[in-house]
Amino acid sequence: MIELRGVTKAWPGGAAVQALDLRVPEGECCALIGPSGCGKTTTLRLVNRLVEPDAGSIRVAGQDVMRQDPVQLRRGIGYVIQEVGLFPHWRVGANVGTVPQLLGWPAARVAARAEEVLALVGLDPARYRDRWPHQLSGGERQRVGVARALAADPPVLLLDEPFGAVDPLRRAQLQGEVLALLRRLRKTVLLVTHDVQEAVLLGDSVALMRAGRLVQHAAPAEMLARPVDAFVADFLGADRALTRLGLFRIADLPREAASVPGAALPEATTLREALAAMLARGSLAVPVAEGGSLGLEALLRGAAGLEAPPRSR
Ligand SMILES: Nc1ncnc2c1ncn2[C@@H]1O[C@H](COP(=O)(O)OP(=O)(O)O)[C@@H](O)[C@H]1O
Ligand SMILES: [Mg+2]
Repeated sequence: MIELRGVTKAWPGGAAVQALDLRVPEGECCALIGPSGCGKTTTLRLVNRLVEPDAGSIRVAGQDVMRQDPVQLRRGIGYVIQEVGLFPHWRVGANVGTVPQLLGWPAARVAARAEEVLALVGLDPARYRDRWPHQLSGGERQRVGVARALAADPPVLLLDEPFGAVDPLRRAQLQGEVLALLRRLRKTVLLVTHDVQEAVLLGDSVALMRAGRLVQHAAPAEMLARPVDAFVADFLGADRALTRLGLFRIADLPREAASVPGAALPEATTLREALAAMLARGSLAVPVAEGGSLGLEALLRGAAGLEAPPRSR
């Protein structure tokens, strides 16, 4: 669990974070979004004490971070940044083993753990262990960065725009894989992004900041349906109703019996894709592969009542 209460941090140029209250329950992912310069990175770095607060309290797993040795604290918190920060003159295996080695694990155990986490993030240890960082693609480097953060099995991970440098084609896959992995491992995650789609797809909750303050913190479907003010509505985009349809699937709605012609859509199809199929076909309903059909009215009415966060899948 990560908990910030009344946290304030000012730089000589002005306040970066002001009276911030934010709680991320154990095992959940909170996506922190907002315009550039609103204080996202500062908030993240306050959690692992790369930045010290002027006021307020910060707890990780119930412990006040200000009462812990910063170096010890950081070894217990995985941290992944866009630039990854791999040591260029260390091979992948050594990079991944950094924290276990600092913790004094025996060399054989460090090496075995490095192989284990490389496999976890989808990199074949035999192929990647002995490479140099410059011999990796952007996506592979990012995976190595995640592997390194997971190596000592910390309960908490801080991710600062971790997919920003990955090319858009590979990005969706990497996002999906990494978040599924972190969920399976029941990690508590604070994920910074400036990308609304990424935030609503990956976060159990979304926290939107503006000029150092928290404006709204809610489940993605809730925020998309009910932004608290014009700033939130604007930031989420005029197409937020469509974005919201992308959070749910045909399987989330009851099926209708009516028989409809055309190629059937699998139940895993998002409601956004189902709506697109209706538009493309000029049809008010689509057949569903598992039987029955879904009509436009049922889709729109049903989606309005759905509140399930991404985690429920
Ligand atoms: N080390 C620093 N020294 C002075 N000002 C900083 C420092 N780090 C961040 N800031 C300022 O604090 C504000 C918030 O920055 P940051 O947390 O990096 O925003 P974000 O990650 O949301 O883009 C910005 O105005 C930035 O210029
Ligand atoms: Mg930032």
